[in-house]
Amino acid sequence: MAQAKPIDSRKESPADDGLVLRAPTAEDGYRVHDLIANCKPLDENSLYCNLLQCSDFQDTCAIAEKDGEVIGFLSGYCPPKKPDTFFVWQVAVSEKARGLGLARRMMLDIVSRHKDVKFIEATITEDNEASWALFKGTAKKLGTEFQSFPRFDRERHFNGRHDSEFAIKIGPFAVQ
Ligand SMILES: CC(C)(COP(=O)(O)OP(=O)(O)OC[C@H]1O[C@@H](n2cnc3c(N)ncnc32)[C@H](O)[C@@H]1OP(=O)(O)O)[C@@H](O)C(=O)NCCC(=O)NCCS
Repeated sequence: MAQAKPIDSRKESPADDGLVLRAPTAEDGYRVHDLIANCKPLDENSLYCNLLQCSDFQDTCAIAEKDGEVIGFLSGYCPPKKPDTFFVWQVAVSEKARGLGLARRMMLDIVSRHKDVKFIEATITEDNEASWALFKGTAKKLGTEFQSFPRFDRERHFNGRHDSEFAIKIGPFAVQ
């Protein structure tokens, strides 16, 4: 197991002009819903689900706004049985804001709010190159291990309706 390496999430700054990174509120729910609808191949959840993410799970979600427009959203939670783990549910960055480090910055913003978190987990479909690059690069930045293994199978869990999802695990790490 790699030793935890302290990093400072505030140093992860791309072009910051007019960029606001914050926890979401219920009033953001419908804008988050619209952003996700425009970020294929993400699964769309109900607007009600996004409202719950933005309110009950606001401590483990992040929203990025520029000039009043929602350009990024990251949802997640700490699984009840794994309080030292942050599970990333979805990451969405609007097309025009991609490649600026925003997804990684939202992720590190959330883990920096939770000092007990030492691992990040998520699931990714095999063909989502941007996602694999995001999580592998994050492990590298944190100077820690990256592991992946099959989790939800196309036939066994999705009954053929969705591609298989591979679990990824990053850690241990410590964010200042
Ligand atoms: C995946 C997504 C959130 C990445 O957002 P982003 O803000 O552009 O990502 P970042 O700028 O933080 O990039 C993180 C790393 O991924 C790499 N990356 C980003 N997009 C990439 C792409 N399309 N192909 C290959 N690598 C990519 C970056 O080069 C960077 O690598 P580094 O660690 O070597 O620096 C964004 O492309 C998106 O919203 N896609 C559609 C929805 C989706 O697939 N979400 C993920 C599944 S939950």
